[in-house]
Amino acid sequence: MEEAIVREFFDAWSLYDQVLNCNYMFHDELYQSVKSLLNQHYGDRPLKILDLGCGSARHLAPVLREQTIENYRGYDLSEVAIAKARENLAPVQGSIELRQGDLLAGLQETVENFDLIFSSFALHHLSLAEKNQFFTLAAEKLNSQGLLLLIDVMREETENRDQFFQHYSAWIESDWTAIAALAKESIYESIRNHDFPETVSTIKEMAKQAGFSTATEISRFRWHQAWSFEKNPDPVLCPHCLRTASNGLKCKGICVADNDY
Ligand SMILES: C[S@@+](CC[C@H](N)C(=O)[O-])C[C@H]1O[C@@H](n2cnc3c(N)ncnc32)[C@H](O)[C@@H]1O
Repeated sequence: MEEAIVREFFDAWSLYDQVLNCNYMFHDELYQSVKSLLNQHYGDRPLKILDLGCGSARHLAPVLREQTIENYRGYDLSEVAIAKARENLAPVQGSIELRQGDLLAGLQETVENFDLIFSSFALHHLSLAEKNQFFTLAAEKLNSQGLLLLIDVMREETENRDQFFQHYSAWIESDWTAIAALAKESIYESIRNHDFPETVSTIKEMAKQAGFSTATEISRFRWHQAWSFEKNPDPVLCPHCLRTASNGLKCKGICVADNDY
């Protein structure tokens, strides 16, 4: 039932696209930081990527065009979002698979491992138990040097869910000036009934319990945050180019990571 309602909201994709057009949820800035991180962490290594709650992949697609993609698999409940993702991901080189379905079921049924498990503004739709399951399964399905990269709305440590709702909707009311009043009402209703954002400390604790040894903040804009999680971080061998044993980076001149330097 819950899933059907969330799917229905995102099947009416045009309102969410309007929010993206106005960059109200800071996608431009958040994905700029994702782009830098992927470049720094993976260099030009071919990547296997799982995107959970991919939506239209409107912001991830241009980032992926600049990486070497072996395989991208996206899951989303919304048929409309999947159709848009197919268009947006068409220019990305590599094998592209899009599956309509629940992200947790997708994570559970997958038998392969991935270099990057990515989820953007979807995790807050899950219950606390489901979020715990998400981190446990993500840790199992990541390659040893892989990254779990999470973008989502997070409550402030001092906010309970009601206070988050009051603060977030007051901000929408004052700042999302291009969205019509009636459309805002449907956004408030959706947040009130279907959004369950956690605090950063809860997210970090779930990740730790699941076996992630690092949690790194990539960027944050109000409640909208990007975090990366690693099980076995590769040591940085050169402070200039940030080369590790596996990311393929190297200084243009002499690199500290070379033995004879
Ligand atoms: C706010 S949109 C985010 C889309 C995109 N990732 C982005 O950052 O713009 C949330 C997406 O998550 C999807 N979604 C929500 N719950 C889901 C679930 N349990 N399984 C799969 N997709 C889900 C919705 O259909 C929607 O496309």
